[in-house]
Amino acid sequence: MINDVNAYMTAVNNAAEYIRKNIPADRKIPKICIVLGSGLAPLASECTEQISLRYADIPGFPVSTVPGHEGRLIVGKLEGKDVFLMSGRFHYYEGYDTSVCTFYVRVMSKLGVEVLFLTNAAGGLLDEMNPADLMVITDHLSFNCDSPLRGPNLDDFGVRFPDQSFVYDKDLVELLAECASELGIRLHKGIYSYSKGPQYETPAEIRALKILGAGAVGMSTVPEAIVASHSGMKVAAVSCISNMAAGISKTALTHEEVIENANKASASSCALVRRFVSKTEV
Ligand code: HPA
Repeated sequence: MINDVNAYMTAVNNAAEYIRKNIPADRKIPKICIVLGSGLAPLASECTEQISLRYADIPGFPVSTVPGHEGRLIVGKLEGKDVFLMSGRFHYYEGYDTSVCTFYVRVMSKLGVEVLFLTNAAGGLLDEMNPADLMVITDHLSFNCDSPLRGPNLDDFGVRFPDQSFVYDKDLVELLAECASELGIRLHKGIYSYSKGPQYETPAEIRALKILGAGAVGMSTVPEAIVASHSGMKVAAVSCISNMAAGISKTALTHEEVIENANKASASSCALVRRFVSKTEV
């Protein structure tokens, strides 16, 4: 939780300043930030004219808890458009407070980013889903999420009691559906339910979430989407269905299965992101 608004705002400004000064003056500051979830790593190497900043060098950025997986913020071009790519994100289950997991979102907002594109791996709940399918997120269930907005409000970004009716931008959902159809990719639409993790859900929890209308379940995205919408950014989000959720899948869930299916979906997830970037007007 944020206790000291001034200290937090100073940290946000310092991080934004560090990133700005590492972008040459003749380059535009990107207006889109894409968070690379499982299966999207290839986009980092496809990005041209890239400047790569280690999270560890950006003041105030949390340090990765996974050895050998230090995160990187990439500034570069995808489909000829200036983008920020977040290679690596922060999860509550790693021990970070949700206000820490979402620090980068505030920094992106300070830098003038208008569209936050979140991707993730998630368990699927819909009957018509198969592992390695994709789902565009139309709404979320955040009951299990510690609000990243708890504590004093950051008035510089948004209001104390923010509306949540339009967290996922409707036009961007439609744009993603259009991109998927052009590419011949099957794209489900559905509600993403947040789990704190790191344990997967029980079959009873999944049955309950299904009654509540969830289409997918995962351990990221929601804190970031809440903070982005509080900051006035447009949010687009896509889940890669890396496994059928507990109890729907007849076998025990493993991280290996998640990675394997996220990699199977990699070509289509990357193609969808590229097409989205090429068609987004910011
Ligand atoms: N549950 C929660 N998080 C996940 C899952 C799941 O089934 N798959 C990938 N991330």
